[in-house]
Amino acid sequence: MNATLNYQTGFGNEFATEALPGALPQGRNSPQRAPYGLYAEQLNATAFTAPRADNRRTWMYRIRPAATHKRFAPYKSATATHPFTSDFASAVTPPNQLRWNPLPLPTTPTDFVDGIVTYAGNGDPHSQTGAGIHLYACNQSMTQRAFYNADGELLIVPQLGRLRFCTELGVIDVEPQEIVVIPRGVRFRVELIDATARGYICENFGANFRLPDLGPIGSNGLANSRDFLTPTAWYEDRDQPFELIAKFMGNLWSAEMDHSPLDVVAWHGNCAPYKYDLRKHNTIGSISYDHPDPSIFLVLHSASDSPGVSNIDFVIFPPRILVAQDTFRPPWFHRNVASEFMGLVHGAYDAKADGFSPGGASLHNCMTGHGPDAETFAKASSADTTKPHHITDTMAFMFETRTVIRPTRSALESTQLQANYSDCWLGLKKNFNADKP
Ligand SMILES: [Fe+2]
Repeated sequence: MNATLNYQTGFGNEFATEALPGALPQGRNSPQRAPYGLYAEQLNATAFTAPRADNRRTWMYRIRPAATHKRFAPYKSATATHPFTSDFASAVTPPNQLRWNPLPLPTTPTDFVDGIVTYAGNGDPHSQTGAGIHLYACNQSMTQRAFYNADGELLIVPQLGRLRFCTELGVIDVEPQEIVVIPRGVRFRVELIDATARGYICENFGANFRLPDLGPIGSNGLANSRDFLTPTAWYEDRDQPFELIAKFMGNLWSAEMDHSPLDVVAWHGNCAPYKYDLRKHNTIGSISYDHPDPSIFLVLHSASDSPGVSNIDFVIFPPRILVAQDTFRPPWFHRNVASEFMGLVHGAYDAKADGFSPGGASLHNCMTGHGPDAETFAKASSADTTKPHHITDTMAFMFETRTVIRPTRSALESTQLQANYSDCWLGLKKNFNADKP
């Protein structure tokens, strides 16, 4: 395909972009009367009456309205063996620490949608709270089919292989250590730039992701708005059979179309896909002693109805320099009311000596104890903290949620689940000696 990759900068801005000159109604022209014989269509990703700062909507000027497709019928994948689901009650949720080896790459032709495997989740699409957590592994581009998710916004974290997201609102290329976010409802197909691809998906049923407030950090820091990239308008005028796959209320549906749904010639609005390079995160930490809570590593957050409590936080553990002195530098032992699903994009994670591989995953749920393994604890306890320590070649992340993350039955029965993960803490010896303060 011959898409031109152009991006507009800034997070959640009111963008205006056209792939044909004059396709965007300008000046006093009604935004609902379009040139070139285009149809005007609005996509709202927030309530009509949401406060202005939260309100997200986009006007699209398209060749045909989104409604021009045949009836939806339940989707039956020709290849997928694992369900892409919102059913998080298929198994009793254990309090155990869980860890999975990397998801194997497919050996039969599998595209992005069929390559999605649901690992865990909480809440549900109906109540618009919580999140689905999935991994994907694929080796085929989507060609004459497109997908949209009515259940939630998709935050995609590639771990292996570059992807091209051809969306209604433009084309985005991403590579590992970048992320892409596709708003609820936006139609897209995924093409592989490399032979295979694998990664993680957070399906956010709740409030749209946004940049966190920075409080005393000030007006800059963490993920900066200028580093978020949204594509310019792009369209294809293809009159040929297409399959439109929808995820709606936890199930996949399929409808026939006689044209590409990616036919938006111009658009304006602030509801659009975007990408962000995690390597641009301005990571902040202690310059005296100890280190702050992991919320300091926040990239994006989805607010809940309770002030200060997230539906989901997307947090990263990027390369950084540890300078805090007279302290224990790795993450400490802890139990949280929040639940933590972690993945590793690249390199090694500093709180584990081994067993957590790129493409793998771990889950530490509400009030389940965890922290550095025995080997990491021993090494950090005797480390010379008078000198800075550069952590390089790493990119771990966490989907942290307010409520318990429930693994699916298929994830609990997966051959990738490590049987003895919790043993990594059993080597922590008793060091206590009442006579030696
Ligand atoms: Fe943790």
